[in-house]
Amino acid sequence: MMLSALKALGVLALTIGGAAQDALTPVTNWGENPSGLELSVYVPPTLAPKPAIILALHFCSGTGPIYSQITKYNSLAAAHNYVVLYPSSPKDNNCWDVATPQSLTRGGGGDSTGLANMVKWAITQYSADPAKVFVTGSSSGCMMSNVMAATYPDLFTAVSCYSGVAAGCLAGSPGSSPQTADPTCAAGNNTKSGQEWAELARGMFPGGYNGTYPRMQTWHGEADFFVNYPNLAEQLKQWSEIFNVSFSKNETDTPRSGYTKIVYGDGTKLVGYSARGVGHTVPVDEKADLIWFGI
Ligand SMILES: *[C@@H]1O[C@H](CO)[C@@H](O)[C@H](O)[C@H]1NC(C)=O
Ligand SMILES: *[C@@H]1O[C@H](CO)[C@@H](O)[C@H](O)[C@H]1NC(C)=O
Ligand SMILES: *[C@@H]1O[C@H](CO)[C@@H](O)[C@H](O)[C@H]1NC(C)=O
Ligand SMILES: *[C@@H]1O[C@H](CO)[C@@H](O)[C@H](O)[C@H]1NC(C)=O
Repeated sequence: MMLSALKALGVLALTIGGAAQDALTPVTNWGENPSGLELSVYVPPTLAPKPAIILALHFCSGTGPIYSQITKYNSLAAAHNYVVLYPSSPKDNNCWDVATPQSLTRGGGGDSTGLANMVKWAITQYSADPAKVFVTGSSSGCMMSNVMAATYPDLFTAVSCYSGVAAGCLAGSPGSSPQTADPTCAAGNNTKSGQEWAELARGMFPGGYNGTYPRMQTWHGEADFFVNYPNLAEQLKQWSEIFNVSFSKNETDTPRSGYTKIVYGDGTKLVGYSARGVGHTVPVDEKADLIWFGI
């Protein structure tokens, strides 16, 4: 995320943060943590029986606690009684690793493994419903959401994320941050066919996966010149191939003026949101996320 955008978010955090952050609980004993991640958890005052779990992934230069302050997942959790996991990546300019084979392989010993272990721990810890596990994130967090869907499709039911790239877009890049990555992907110049993207994603599950992939909803600003707009189309190509659904229709001014909802198939597996005039920081629409998740 650009510094200017981060500062804008920081200002926002000052105005709405505080109480929510105090309610986070740091957790260290969630299991194997091969890449040195950190975890804070939000548990609402009342937990549903068999609650849902949302894994919420911050942008570069961010942390879990910052992401909890600038989003409304916690206040909505008080009404919907789910658990939110806010991990932090302390490495590579606080970006998620979406480049190394370790992270781009199920059980590979990278960030995806540590995040999956957090989710598995939380399902047991909170007697959660394994059919109600979701992942969201912004920018680097959306790149990682795509990677989690590809590496641990069996753990997640749905994804809704903002301003990311297709799973594998940064494969082989020397890093995953604006400062360390091969710039081709963020520039929107790493284009592939749906089949090539799907092969890349499926290859992240060694031995092959025959089950269902999580429903995918992905948002992107048309004026994003940081993680460029063509990355929306690349994600849609990837997941439409995996779900075997094709473009069916656009719904303009949905869910708000200037946004176009891009519907694939019957709209239950894959949806894109194209935000006209919006840059890299697409405002998180937590309510739309919860609707997509079925919470
Ligand atoms: C991306 O492609 C455009 C158009 O070909 C080119 O001008 C630009 O330098 C490329 N940028 C990167 C980082 O690949
Ligand atoms: C997936 O399905 C294919 C074809 O039915 C089968 O050959 C393969 O063994 C299955 N893989 C797993 C991991 O179940
Ligand atoms: C994909 O969908 C088409 C038409 O809906 C169907 O004919 C085809 O068999 C499907 N392919 C796979 C691999 O399921
Ligand atoms: C659907 O909307 C997207 C985003 O505005 C646009 O790029 C695409 O051309 C539209 N498709 C059709 C068939 O109108």
